Amino acid sequence: MKGLILSGGKGTRLRPLTYTSAKQLIPIANKPILHYGIEFMKDAGIKDIGIIVGDTRAEIMEQVGDGSMWGVNIEFIHQPEPLGLAHAVLTAEKYIGDDTFTMYLGDNLLRDGIAGIVKEYHERNPDCMILLTPVKNPSQFGVAELKEDGSVKKLVEKPAEPKSNLALVGVYLFNSLIFEAARKIKPSLRGELEITDAIQQLLDDGRDVHSAIVEGWWKDTGKLDDMLEANRLVLDTLEKNIEGNVDSASKVEGRVIIGPNSRIINSSIRGPVIIGRNVVIENAFIGPYTSIQDKCEISNCELEHSIILDESKIRDVPGRLSDCLIGRQVVVEKASIKPQATRLMLGDSSWVSLG
Ligand code: G1P
Repeated sequence: MKGLILSGGKGTRLRPLTYTSAKQLIPIANKPILHYGIEFMKDAGIKDIGIIVGDTRAEIMEQVGDGSMWGVNIEFIHQPEPLGLAHAVLTAEKYIGDDTFTMYLGDNLLRDGIAGIVKEYHERNPDCMILLTPVKNPSQFGVAELKEDGSVKKLVEKPAEPKSNLALVGVYLFNSLIFEAARKIKPSLRGELEITDAIQQLLDDGRDVHSAIVEGWWKDTGKLDDMLEANRLVLDTLEKNIEGNVDSASKVEGRVIIGPNSRIINSSIRGPVIIGRNVVIENAFIGPYTSIQDKCEISNCELEHSIILDESKIRDVPGRLSDCLIGRQVVVEKASIKPQATRLMLGDSSWVSLG
């Protein structure tokens, strides 16, 4: 079995970060989301992984390399335009050949990985296996309607009036019949070849489509709130590990990870929190569910439930910062010159909510 991870797409709902960075490289608990997918594949025994890339391919290829970091073989497959998940599958046809494959959407996260699912697929050997999970907002996903015996009756992509609350999770297992099905379908109203429609085509063709309900949480990290939630869920699973230096005036409570060469000075850290390498935290409070990447400086402020990327500086900010996603090399500070007005320099599609 091969792996196929989809990392094209423009990540429009995460602008402005996605103007300069691929959404799959935004870190959750200081690790790019895409790395979780690669690790899940490896844990499931999948060694040959194709990664579908689009406009952001240079950054992804540089970051991921040839897979030797994980002991797997990675090949990049360029999808010139994001014309849908079924189009991505067709783009990978040559790479997949006659193999079975697991397709994994690069911005998805599952608590339990995919090893159990891959095992179930091999035991049952269906033409396609899909994963489902109950959600509160099914019309934002592909939705499955099941028959009384639990088998799949119908799949509809983002229905206005969903027939169930069972959303399609971004992990699919296929044999090569999916290529024929993907060639038969037409683009949806959003102009994409939907994988949901291709799987419906398999059903229409009388193929064996097996479904399983995901145990444990699953997150599609397409939006800020989902990112913060995924960060929370992953931070909850980490073990305490302090490598950096914590001075005697500081207090560290709960599950906190502090990377090498980081310094905590006269500050309070309340876990779950992860702090990367070469970070300085001074006269600050870092509250639960915060991830701070390498080389950041945080001083004279309070911060919680947030994700801060490499080399950003936050200093002297009044009030408490919460629910933030801050990109690389960002500076947030209190004005030190008159007038003491709020002055902003923000990229296109930035978003500020002043407390
Ligand atoms: C895609 C699929 C949808 C699925 C979702 C899971 O949606 O089209 O069926 O439920 O991924 O993350 P998209 O992220 O393209 O809106």
